[in-house]
Amino acid sequence: MMHAYTLKAPAKINLLLEIIGDRPDGFHELVMVLQSINLADIVELQPLSGDRIQLHCNHPQVPCDESNLAHRAARLMQKQFSGKGGVAITIDKKIPIGAGLAGGSADAAAVLVGLDLMWNLGLTQAELQTFAAKLGSDIPFCVSGGTALALGRGEELTPLPDLDQLYVVLAKYRSSSVATPWAYKTYRQQFSESYARNPEALERRRREGHSVDLLAAITHRDPLQVPRHLYNDLEKVVLPQYPQVQKIRDLLQSFDALGAMMSGSGPTVFGLADLRSKAELMATQLQTAVSDPDLEIIVTKFCSSGIQLLS
Ligand code: C5P
Repeated sequence: MMHAYTLKAPAKINLLLEIIGDRPDGFHELVMVLQSINLADIVELQPLSGDRIQLHCNHPQVPCDESNLAHRAARLMQKQFSGKGGVAITIDKKIPIGAGLAGGSADAAAVLVGLDLMWNLGLTQAELQTFAAKLGSDIPFCVSGGTALALGRGEELTPLPDLDQLYVVLAKYRSSSVATPWAYKTYRQQFSESYARNPEALERRRREGHSVDLLAAITHRDPLQVPRHLYNDLEKVVLPQYPQVQKIRDLLQSFDALGAMMSGSGPTVFGLADLRSKAELMATQLQTAVSDPDLEIIVTKFCSSGIQLLS
């Protein structure tokens, strides 16, 4: 008798996102450092008869059809493991959408992990990662979470030591979102001159690029150095188009954040602090300075895990 599973699906922020070249598949060669945070959607899976896939979400702007990555994750698993039945997926949305926080990717990762359990498949982490990579570049990371270096499209992961001491203030205008393909396409139009053009040049950019200082801070377990080496190439195309996002970034920096940056393709901006009290003070200062109900501000913490089974 199959029963229901409830999973925690944490969001991620990028501590680093460097675009180093083009790929034959139309994607970009990246160097990223990804970090899970304690802001999470709750994903519940219940067995259904036949091969039906149903999706419910309490957020009105989340599509519940096949365009939803969680729905596609369930369909992919059904194709791979036929005869296991259907599933009803219920998503309690806590992660802002279209935000650069991988909320949709986290939900899809939860469906992969949850169906592995519900259908008693016994998949290895590597097998789960392979399915995850078919669905989207950030999904393998969402499965395993924590702190990781991500190369290739973002799916080649190397775990890094935990950084779970740092606190995060997230700020996003509810009515604003960025389409990730637009951000990458615009970057290519403006900066492809600087791309590495051969395997040796790519390897040099991986070893000698912006990640060097950040990776040193992480491997030396020096969390206070981490915020000083944040880097995101997509800020170059997104911030000029979204002056209000630039303004939030500048404000967080002026309030003594250890570091502040846009996450992924944005438009979420985050500021880092070493104490919860400092993060909460920054959040209050930002609220007072901007005073716009459209601005959502969340205080959270780094977290060292990916998808977790709750019950
Ligand atoms: O893989 P995912 O569906 O999350 O990617 C969303 C979009 O971001 C892609 O369609 C592509 O335009 C861009 N992208 C990219 N290079 C990557 C990852 C994403 O160009 N490595």
